Amino acid sequence: MSLHTYTEGAADDGLPLVLLHGFPLDHRMWDEVARLFPAGRAVHAVDLPGTPGHATDLPEPALEASADVVAEALRGAGVERAVVAGLSMGGYVALALVERHPELVAALALVDTKSTADAPEARANRLRIAAEAERSGSVDPVRPMASSLLGESTVSSQPEVADQVAAWIDQQEPAGIAWSQRAMAARPDRSEVLRAFDGPVVVVVGDEDTVTPVEAAEHLVATSVQARLVVVQRAGHLSSVEQPAAVAAALADLAQAADATSQDG
Ligand code: MLT
Repeated sequence: MSLHTYTEGAADDGLPLVLLHGFPLDHRMWDEVARLFPAGRAVHAVDLPGTPGHATDLPEPALEASADVVAEALRGAGVERAVVAGLSMGGYVALALVERHPELVAALALVDTKSTADAPEARANRLRIAAEAERSGSVDPVRPMASSLLGESTVSSQPEVADQVAAWIDQQEPAGIAWSQRAMAARPDRSEVLRAFDGPVVVVVGDEDTVTPVEAAEHLVATSVQARLVVVQRAGHLSSVEQPAAVAAALADLAQAADATSQDG
């Protein structure tokens, strides 16, 4: 089962929140956001294909397959409509979910991500890392991401966060790393999917994000008629891990807006 549910009991106070993680990580990168999120609403996180326990018997590498896994996991849990938040790779999957399963997505949080495809050099680099992970049978090729994903403020003032991210990366599986890199390399530009989405949207970005910087977030905001921009201070690419309270607050606002919209409709 790829669905991790944080809430217990009824938790039926509004639309559920669904969290999609970044690479090379898994649902645990959302733990603090889930803990800080206002009680009452169901909160689920999905472990995408390629994560530990989900790194064998993989289909052809494609984020469309990841989106279908999310849809299946949600429907299996009785979730028919949700507020969907994706960080980085999770944001790519969220846009694929909007394209393939639009009825499931009431509102969208795009966190430290972008809607465009990779430039040729970035794509080639992903394929190189995929091959290297397989050849070495290790996560060595992505280990440096433990620091490059984080903002300078986190690296200097929250060393325990850097240690935690490094430990999560160490626990990933080489086959999963390779699959996710190839899947991301193959993704198309989904800016038009975002443009056509008519539910509430929040774009969240760490002010120290060097992977998908503030300019990428501004492009998302310019693309979506609905979007609101939240810049998280003292956070890099993993804003949900570095400054979880700020991200939880942005998601709570979005969820409230989504509830209001679905009641109007
Ligand atoms: C992520 O955080 O998911 C990755 O940085 C995504 C990417 O490599 O584009």
